[in-house]
Amino acid sequence: MADPTTLDGGATGVEEEVPDIDSVAEDIRKKAEDEAAKIEFHEDKAKEAGFRLDVWKAVENLRNDCITARYKWQKKPRRIRLPKAMSAEEMEGKYQEKRVPTVIPRITEDNWEEIEIQPIMEPYSFIRVRYNKENHEYLYEVIEPQLTEEEEKLLEFLKDTLLKTLEYTLEDATTKDKEEYLRKSVDALLISRNIRLEDVSKDRIIYYIIRDFIGYSVINVLMVDPQIEDISCDGPAIPLFIYHRKYHSVRTNVIFKNDHDLDSFVIGLAQRCGKHISVADPLLDATIPDGSRLQATLAREVTTRGSSFTIRRFRDNPFTPPDIIRFKTMSVEMVAYLWLSIEHGESILICGGTASGKTTTLNALLLFVPPQHKIITIEDTREINLPHENWIASLTRGGFGARGADGKAAGEIDMFELLKAALRQRPQYLMVGEVRGKEAQTLFQAMATGHTVYSTMHADSVKSMVHRLENPPISLPRILLSSLNIVLLQAQVRVGKGMARRVQSIVALVGIEPQTNELITNSVYSWSSADDVFIYNGHSFMFEKIMNNQSMTSEQMKEEFKRRCDIIEWMRKTNVRNYRDVAKIVSGYYKDPDTTIERVRQDLYG
Ligand SMILES: Nc1ncnc2c1ncn2[C@@H]1O[C@H](COP(=O)(O)OP(=O)(O)OP(=O)(O)O)[C@@H](O)[C@H]1O
Ligand SMILES: [Mg+2]
Repeated sequence: MADPTTLDGGATGVEEEVPDIDSVAEDIRKKAEDEAAKIEFHEDKAKEAGFRLDVWKAVENLRNDCITARYKWQKKPRRIRLPKAMSAEEMEGKYQEKRVPTVIPRITEDNWEEIEIQPIMEPYSFIRVRYNKENHEYLYEVIEPQLTEEEEKLLEFLKDTLLKTLEYTLEDATTKDKEEYLRKSVDALLISRNIRLEDVSKDRIIYYIIRDFIGYSVINVLMVDPQIEDISCDGPAIPLFIYHRKYHSVRTNVIFKNDHDLDSFVIGLAQRCGKHISVADPLLDATIPDGSRLQATLAREVTTRGSSFTIRRFRDNPFTPPDIIRFKTMSVEMVAYLWLSIEHGESILICGGTASGKTTTLNALLLFVPPQHKIITIEDTREINLPHENWIASLTRGGFGARGADGKAAGEIDMFELLKAALRQRPQYLMVGEVRGKEAQTLFQAMATGHTVYSTMHADSVKSMVHRLENPPISLPRILLSSLNIVLLQAQVRVGKGMARRVQSIVALVGIEPQTNELITNSVYSWSSADDVFIYNGHSFMFEKIMNNQSMTSEQMKEEFKRRCDIIEWMRKTNVRNYRDVAKIVSGYYKDPDTTIERVRQDLYG
């Protein structure tokens, strides 16, 4: 029977479950929450992605900027200013990058200490001075672009081809034109052979081409560094030595590997000087186009270790009297004394050892020669550089072939002949590079006949000078010797820890003692080695002579001397460095002494 309590009369046997509204709502809420969380999560992700996108874009822009900047930088001439001296580590950081032509190698050996690095032709060549702590020696290291094997082969090929194909006479062009021409020729060659090169490789190769065709090949850096006075090569497989202004005699890392390399270098150098050197005539004395003095020997004919050469570097702007004072080679008073003596036509002989600075002092003093006066200089190799217009610079000439009975080769013109020719040209001032042979007789005769003569001589005291002059081959009679007025003794001496050049004394030759035939001398200034100062010895015959000739009182003489001292001191103080400027000031004083000295004293004393 059906249960009366059921409502539907018991239609089915299974009861349907009625969902609970609350739980449904809860479910939906949860799902909604989940979805919201998901959306939030995705939103976060999306935001993050957007941010990343922005960062990525920024990075990309930055990268582009860098590339553009670098490209521009590569196009521009590269100028990297280096502090005066950098350590190897710092340099390595700066130059280790593969893009630069020259990498400064790090010093790995313990016993070497780096002293300084200087750029020579940045960013291609540098020099580094190192010091060996064990054997206490300096080494002057030339650092140039390092070539890979392929680059080396290509360089050889380019050099060979250029040698064969160069049509242009490089001698007549300016350095800039020559460089431009070589660059274009290399470009044309590379294109014609379909060779593609990275910029930096090309830079390195062109550096060597310019160095070898226009410069002085392996010694080019040594010929550019202004700190170098002398370069000497004693033979193949022996490192070249230099005389450095700061470190003195120093070994370098430059070396000619074998006889062949050195011989061809010496022959090439001789050709560039317009001279000839051969096994038959293996001795050469010449002037290099940049004005430097060259002495060379070829092969093992006269020098058993093989070819050799010594180059005395030329200065475009020769040292001036203010420089000489700056170096403390002379005092202001000594230079003023010499100025007066030059103006009044006293003949001067500068004596000293090799490389004591004789020619340099002479060149500086010649700036005091009044501007309109005629000067003739006679030299074996051109060293003297003067701003005077009325100046004849003559040079001796070597001959050809074997020497004849008179000891001269065909076409040879020596100092003696040039001197004879010079005397016919009525010079007021005559300068002979160095006294050593029979020309000395003529030179002293010129002094005796009223010419003002300057020269240098290898002698370290007045005594040895007189000895050399009076004995063969010069054999000068004493009476002629007395026509010389002043002897300057100059030497390279030790001052403190270093070496310096000092005029050790200025000696006036006063005359000859008639009874004893002794030469009477008066040392006017002398150098005291103990305290490195110059001492005036209290009396000068030259002042008396000038006073007599010019009818001056001793007060006027003193004032004139003081004026010269003031002008020289003013040039030193105001840093007048160029020899032309010095000559201008000197000539200004000759023309209008009062105005010049007024200006100078205004500056000096206010
Ligand atoms: N007063 C000086 N102070 C510093 N350096 C100097 C001085 N005089 C000369 N020098 C340098 O010394 C070197 C030699 O100078 P210089 O040629 O004048 O010597 P020298 O005595 O004429 O030599 P040589 O005996 O070979 O003719 C040059 O490089 C020059 O720059
Ligand atoms: Mg000299």
